[in-house]
Amino acid sequence: MSSLPRLPAFFDKDQASTYDERFAKLVAMRDAIHLIMGSAFADLPANARILCVGAGTGAEVFYLSRKYPGWHFTAVEPAAAMLDVFRRRAAEEGISERCSFHEGYLDSLPPTDEFDAATSILVSQFILDPEVRREFFEGIATRLKPGGPLLSADLSTHLASNEGQGVFNLWLGMLASSAMPAEQIAQMRAAYERDVAILPPGEVEAIIMAGGFGQPLRILQTLLIRAWFARRAESIS
Ligand SMILES: C[S@@+](CC[C@H](N)C(=O)[O-])C[C@H]1O[C@@H](n2cnc3c(N)ncnc32)[C@H](O)[C@@H]1O
Repeated sequence: MSSLPRLPAFFDKDQASTYDERFAKLVAMRDAIHLIMGSAFADLPANARILCVGAGTGAEVFYLSRKYPGWHFTAVEPAAAMLDVFRRRAAEEGISERCSFHEGYLDSLPPTDEFDAATSILVSQFILDPEVRREFFEGIATRLKPGGPLLSADLSTHLASNEGQGVFNLWLGMLASSAMPAEQIAQMRAAYERDVAILPPGEVEAIIMAGGFGQPLRILQTLLIRAWFARRAESIS
């Protein structure tokens, strides 16, 4: 990697334990991504191996593990506190043996067989440098089988446009109406400016493709969240 991305403070120890609680009222948005992901991955083998980059507290893994009991998951997560929450919940849910937990970035994951599919849900937006973001997707592509599917989601809009501003304001309003305290919303707003690369969808798609994937399909928009389905190119350099 050109340079390691800086991890936003909101995934540290204090924040990780309350991460799911804080976003509980917005869970319908996450559920929509999971629903589409579950059906988009339906043709994978019964013993598929899934790479989940930026798995956080494990939301996507729990969804897929319930739907596909034979699948195995490799969770890549640099924030130790987020991974600790995930590990504990995986034990409670009885899926620890179906998960490999890697504390760190993808480039330090030991070599493995190629994965059948990958997820990157609300992760690449934290990589501010577009070249490092391209390398992030390239790292995923090189770990996937040719043609293997990727479900990716990020905050994305054309912030400089009237539409982007309108969507952004509705997003902040939604956080407020989900009973998020004003102080937390102000913190998130500052973080969006400092720690999050909210790019127009076309720019995110170009980065994903330059990382070794075919044209991503726009499969979902819930206000600022966009999701894409892409397949790894048959050959990558
Ligand atoms: C918004 S959370 C999403 C977690 C989970 N995917 C979900 O949907 O609930 C983003 C996660 O990505 C992790 N992360 C940030 N930058 C990363 C990177 N370059 N590689 C892997 N994970 C990263 C953070 O530590 C955090 O746990």
